[in-house]
Amino acid sequence: MERTLILLKPDAVQRGFSGEIIARFERKGLKILGMKLMQISPELAAKHYEAHQGKGFYDGLVSFMTSNPVVALALEGHKAISVCRKLMGATFGCDAEPGTIRGDFGISNGYNLVHGSDSPEAAARELELFFGAGEILEYGRIDDPWNAAE
Ligand code: RTP
Ligand code: MG
Repeated sequence: MERTLILLKPDAVQRGFSGEIIARFERKGLKILGMKLMQISPELAAKHYEAHQGKGFYDGLVSFMTSNPVVALALEGHKAISVCRKLMGATFGCDAEPGTIRGDFGISNGYNLVHGSDSPEAAARELELFFGAGEILEYGRIDDPWNAAE
């Protein structure tokens, strides 16, 4: 089982797609362990996107991510990191395949609705940035056996 950090970016919340996007992760079989509406501070955005510091799109990305509330999700499931990245689709909405979140809900490059951790190391680091002690809940769900690896 893996855990991953998903962010519904400000465009997803502003355009009223939070519920529909969360439903896609849920129906795939991912379990919500943590979920909150929050305003990202410039400091948190800088830590979260530190790998992109110095790139041409970095300043715009930080202003976008701090402009309005986001929904942060801690999700768990079999191969959760790669499964979520597939559900999200390619980075730019104009390139993302129909059927993916970015392919179905947007056309912009930067305003691409969702963030998902891209490796186990990134997931561990990002979950710690966004969720404090006690904000990630471990619980059984009645459909757990049907979402197991086997
Ligand atoms: P994310 O980190 O948000 O899950 O997205 P990603 O892995 O698919 O893409 P990444 O290369 O990590 O880029 C992070 C975010 O920066 C914005 N971006 N804009 N205009 C541009 O050229 C450009 N390039 C990247 C996007 O919001 C992208 O998700
Ligand atoms: Mg990324």
